[in-house]
Amino acid sequence: MKAEILIAGISQLVTAEGVGPRHGQAMRELKIVKEAAIAISSSVILWTGKESEWRGEAEATVDAGGRAVVPGLVDPHTHAVWAGNRLADFEARTSGSTYEEILAAGGGIRSTIRATAAASKDDLLALAKPRIDSLIASGATTIEVKSGYGFTTEAELAMLEAIQSLSAGAAARIVPTLLIHIPPAIATERSSYLSRVCDELIPEVASRNLATAVDIFVEKEAWHVPEAEEVFQRAKQFGLAIKLHSDQFHSIGGVELGTDFGALSVDHLEASGPEQIAKIASSSTIATILPGVSLHLGIPSAPGRKLVDAGAAVAVGTDLNPGSSPLFSISTALALSVRLNGLTVEEAIVAGTVNAACALGIKDAGRLEAGCAADFVVLQSSDWRDLVYTLGANPVRDVWIGGKKVR
Ligand code: NIG
Ligand code: FE
Repeated sequence: MKAEILIAGISQLVTAEGVGPRHGQAMRELKIVKEAAIAISSSVILWTGKESEWRGEAEATVDAGGRAVVPGLVDPHTHAVWAGNRLADFEARTSGSTYEEILAAGGGIRSTIRATAAASKDDLLALAKPRIDSLIASGATTIEVKSGYGFTTEAELAMLEAIQSLSAGAAARIVPTLLIHIPPAIATERSSYLSRVCDELIPEVASRNLATAVDIFVEKEAWHVPEAEEVFQRAKQFGLAIKLHSDQFHSIGGVELGTDFGALSVDHLEASGPEQIAKIASSSTIATILPGVSLHLGIPSAPGRKLVDAGAAVAVGTDLNPGSSPLFSISTALALSVRLNGLTVEEAIVAGTVNAACALGIKDAGRLEAGCAADFVVLQSSDWRDLVYTLGANPVRDVWIGGKKVR
């Protein structure tokens, strides 16, 4: 076997094994190889195993220095492109206003939409780039980025074009999603807005390959189930995958709709109860939980423990956005999922790697196995558990994407 690079000196190589999402107790099954090595060729993993068992030749060897290596982390839910800030909302919330009240009064997401509309594409790109760099520094090698602060067809397309440019210049793999975020404030304008989404925006996004999935925010203060169903039907017709923001504040049927429609993931779930948990557990849809939101907004945490115990496949994301989760680190999101959502250390790793990749419909990332992308993270520590133990310092030392050290 001939490799371009051999990564040697790995104290522990830790990964889930095999294709597809891990459900329930299978989320605790990790393969741990001590004193390991990884052979890479043409940006793909050629071989992994005990270093003493490597029999091939490598053009170059890189010493991991007795550190632990895990798969590149996957952040399956971000809103990394926005302009303006939500510091006034933050301050108002510290004096007792709630996120939903601020939104209902025309602020919150609507204020970010106004600021984003006023920014040029170059401005948006310049603002987003350092956010993506922070996520990469925290171990993310694949990052989903949503539109949704555009509102008009033109502004949504401009956001997706900014995401496309971001993707062209980023070291990480960027996965773009079209987010149908909030409806017009005037109730009588909802249906004509929705018609534009279904008849103009979705077909245009599909024909220009600007997104792989369509997401919609289903909530009392946002879109309702029949409206989301129209969007999903259209998305399916155009070959786009579907996702939802659901059950963030109220459980109004988004989980049921999403699982029935074969959504890749239902995200948030802070207000989900036993019926929604059972519904997700018996489906192929991934439950993506976002602990940064519970921390920042002080709302209940999504029932991560109960979801896993019921047999669901759980993923974790940062939900990086200015309003509900200014969290720029995927490793911290995983660390929070252990404290706030009750995941075990093993489950958090699976939730941030293979399951998060599956939440984006990606099969060849989130695992360290021959044939997968050579995306991996060298920790500062010799013990893999430090990744989700550490708070406040960066547990990540080096980040490799497609067989290249990017950090
Ligand atoms: O995932 N809840 C809806 N959307 C985002 C927040 C966007 C914002 O507050 O700007 C979320 O929490
Ligand atoms: Fe979100």
